[in-house]
Amino acid sequence: MTGRLAGKVALVTGGASGLGAESARRMAREGAAVVLTDLQADAGQAVADEILAAGGRAAFLPHEVTDEARWIEVVAWTVERFGRIDVLVNSAGVGSGGQPILEATLEGWRRITAINLDGTFLGVRHVAPLMAAAGGGSIINLSSILGKVGLPGATAYCASKGGVLMLTKAAAVELAPLGVRVNSVHPGFIETPMVQNVFREADNGNERRDLIISSHPLGRLGVPREIADAIVFLASDESSFMTGSEVVVDGGYTAV
Ligand SMILES: NC(=O)c1ccc[n+]([C@@H]2O[C@H](COP(=O)([O-])OP(=O)(O)OC[C@H]3O[C@@H](n4cnc5c(N)ncnc54)[C@H](O)[C@@H]3O)[C@@H](O)[C@H]2O)c1
Repeated sequence: MTGRLAGKVALVTGGASGLGAESARRMAREGAAVVLTDLQADAGQAVADEILAAGGRAAFLPHEVTDEARWIEVVAWTVERFGRIDVLVNSAGVGSGGQPILEATLEGWRRITAINLDGTFLGVRHVAPLMAAAGGGSIINLSSILGKVGLPGATAYCASKGGVLMLTKAAAVELAPLGVRVNSVHPGFIETPMVQNVFREADNGNERRDLIISSHPLGRLGVPREIADAIVFLASDESSFMTGSEVVVDGGYTAV
């Protein structure tokens, strides 16, 4: 078996779409066996089938990341089927819904933080012990530039992603002696269904798009491959001295 991730087993949440799907494809191409999970069963199975058709190893499992009992089942199934988990990519997430804080509801806040932050916590909580017992692993948490800087209408999203940033650092420090690395990835605005839906649902979608593009010094939105490449690097032994790092891939958004 060849590739930068040869022999590794990766679990990817949010694997049916966007950054999770592209990370799964690219990790499989580098030799990893990939278990994709998501709420969207048909789309997730289609990504797994695509990987299998290309000669890779993959499987899909339906998974609600806020459901702790389901996490336990997903982890047990993955170990039963592939023997171990070397890489966890916590990519499942939801966008902000564009709710100004003066109109926000506790229900809306809880939904976003439950999926983006609690879901990531549960992944770390249930996969890290296995990695530690096996002598190590790499956990990659999708935060955002909005875990580092604010955006109007995105209070709960920013809070959830800031939480992911600090969950990552605290876990990295605690798990380092056990050989488990934990890093966060902070994408700028990337062309995925999450971002395309924001533009589609806005009254002034084209203007919003232009405004957001102009906030990236590189003058465009990113594409999923540009985030997946960073994730492959963090999953691989090439990043063996990195833990607790904030890997910013944002076309310069936070440099301004
Ligand atoms: N696209 C961007 O510009 C961008 C920027 C910064 C951070 N991110 C983060 O990257 C991650 C992936 O985003 P994306 O752009 O690929 O979005 P996406 O909407 O294309 O994919 C997200 C996936 O998560 C799944 N999901 C949502 N809620 C879930 C739940 N409760 N349980 C299980 N699965 C669930 C969805 O079904 C979907 O397939 C998210 O955490 C997002 O916040 C994205």
